[in-house]
Amino acid sequence: MTDRILAMASDHGGYEMKALLKDEAVRLGWAVLDLGTDGPASVDYPDYAAGVAAAIREGRAGRGVLVCGSGIGISIAANRFPEIRAALIHDSYGARMCRLHNDANVMCLGGRTTGIEIAKECLTIFLDTAFEGGRHANRVAKLAAPSCR
Ligand code: RB5
Repeated sequence: MTDRILAMASDHGGYEMKALLKDEAVRLGWAVLDLGTDGPASVDYPDYAAGVAAAIREGRAGRGVLVCGSGIGISIAANRFPEIRAALIHDSYGARMCRLHNDANVMCLGGRTTGIEIAKECLTIFLDTAFEGGRHANRVAKLAAPSCR
């Protein structure tokens, strides 16, 4: 079961936040698959987004958290992979809505833009909130097979 396995990764702009959120996820009862990076040496965020995307797509994790400096690059990178619905989150409202309405399976945060207490609150909500389904299920299905109009 990957239900409570969380894949986490960051670039050098997010490794400190990732470490703190990893402790928080464990405290919340999740097993963490930490895919790096672990220090300030400059790395490329697409490589880390790819690691979390692969973990989810291969069934090694049920959800993911990605952190870069702004959260922007790593969310763009993650959303290039099929089956990945990555949401760039700045507050608790977004954390709740990305689960309720979008069934986001990856939460992206900015290590240089979001305070750690807000980030921890977002993590708790992201991990605890179920997809609402209903009218949102059809919309989420369209994300998997977009068509131009
Ligand atoms: C790295 O300096 C920075 O560009 C990266 O962490 C991220 O913010 C990119 O979107």
